Amino acid sequence: MEQFSLTDRTALVTGGASGIGHAAAQRFLEAGAKVVIGDLNRDESRKAVQSMGDKGFELESLEMDVSDEDSIINVFNVVRKTHGSIDVLVNSAGTGARMDATELPLKLWQKVMDVNLTGCFLCSREAAGSMLEQGSGSIVNVASIMGLVGGGIYPNPAYQTSKGGVVNLTRTLALDWAKLGIRVNAVAPAFLRTPLTQGLLEEPGMEQKLLERTPMGRLVEASEVADAILFLASDASSMITGHTLPVDGGWVAQ
Ligand SMILES: NC(=O)c1ccc[n+]([C@@H]2O[C@H](COP(=O)([O-])OP(=O)(O)OC[C@H]3O[C@@H](n4cnc5c(N)ncnc54)[C@H](O)[C@@H]3O)[C@@H](O)[C@H]2O)c1
Repeated sequence: MEQFSLTDRTALVTGGASGIGHAAAQRFLEAGAKVVIGDLNRDESRKAVQSMGDKGFELESLEMDVSDEDSIINVFNVVRKTHGSIDVLVNSAGTGARMDATELPLKLWQKVMDVNLTGCFLCSREAAGSMLEQGSGSIVNVASIMGLVGGGIYPNPAYQTSKGGVVNLTRTLALDWAKLGIRVNAVAPAFLRTPLTQGLLEEPGMEQKLLERTPMGRLVEASEVADAILFLASDASSMITGHTLPVDGGWVAQ
């Protein structure tokens, strides 16, 4: 189990106040890491730190907007100053815009790209600055099955395009940094119950429709995605880079 340990490592989890990011932060703490949550939502971040920090774990949160370059640079500077290194980055902050392409305003398209794709690039760029100096590091992007297929259930074109971009950004950064000690991987979850999908899952008949499309016939648990993220973040996956691991109950195998 030593290979799964993150003892003495510092991890930054964007979007770590809620859902998948929150579950990953919890797993990392259990694996011995010092964890920094970077999130736009200050109240949820505070609650997350209270709920997990109470158990004696080393956890803090910093306000961060991954669609704002200055905010990202500032957070990475603070983490570097406080902890000296950044060993693991999880890019989990994300958003969507469920509407047909014919009705999608440019502003909304751009917002989804800024958060999901450009944010992922900028955070990876900043993390790599430290990781290259150390000669080691692991980046895990939270993509989606919607980055591996075209959607087909309801329209969400900006989201699906941005997640497809995350899958290829994962490959390209992995290749660029492979000889420099930085691994870059992604997880591609199917549907989970989180604030992001609350409205979707409340639509009449939608949950049933999604379950029928999922070979294993149930929603994904955030802890199941967190387990895959811990695997990719830790030395347990030391020869794996550029890979997107579906956590999808068989969805993309169909
Ligand atoms: N829930 C699902 O079914 C599902 C499926 C596949 C992939 N994903 C992906 O997982 C990731 C996490 O989603 P979740 O379901 O845990 O959602 P969530 O709403 O529970 O968590 C998302 C977090 O990101 C934060 N955030 C949003 N915009 C931000 C910004 N600009 N800067 C910093 N933080 C920001 C939010 O405050 C929130 O804490 C997303 O990238 C999402 O696309 C989710």
